[in-house]
Amino acid sequence: MEKTFLMVKPDGVQRNLIGEIVSRFEKKGFQLIGAKLMIIPAEVAEKHYAEHKERPFFGELVDFITSGPVFAMAWQGESVIATARQMMGSTNPKDAAPGTIRGDFGVTVGKNIIHGSDSPESAERELGIFFKEEELSEYSKLV
Ligand code: CMP
Repeated sequence: MEKTFLMVKPDGVQRNLIGEIVSRFEKKGFQLIGAKLMIIPAEVAEKHYAEHKERPFFGELVDFITSGPVFAMAWQGESVIATARQMMGSTNPKDAAPGTIRGDFGVTVGKNIIHGSDSPESAERELGIFFKEEELSEYSKLV
């Protein structure tokens, strides 16, 4: 079963959007297999966002993502990586369609509520940064 890493960013946590966001993915039919509320250490944030290291906004990005608690999640389901990205909407909330998470709740590209892995490789890498294998749950096949 495909797995992905999703994270409610500090703005989404402070705006009390954890429940709303979890609910959208649950109602869609995906399974939450791991979750933790945490403040990300700077070195972990730098590792997570390593592909953006040369971007002018890298410092701002790391400062923001470490500025308060995030809600890190592991989800599983068929095509969950691409479908979760569709449900999140475009990176810049001004381009995100209504009905998507960023379209409904975001305003600026920096504070865009949620992060989601963009490929199977990123999902594996990012899940490995935030979760140990034993922290991810198996669901009963009977449910
Ligand atoms: P995310 O999906 O977490 O991946 C990288 C993040 O960089 C992205 O969401 C945006 O929040 C952020 N980002 C992209 N462009 C900019 C920008 N111009 N200024 C600040 N942050 C940005």
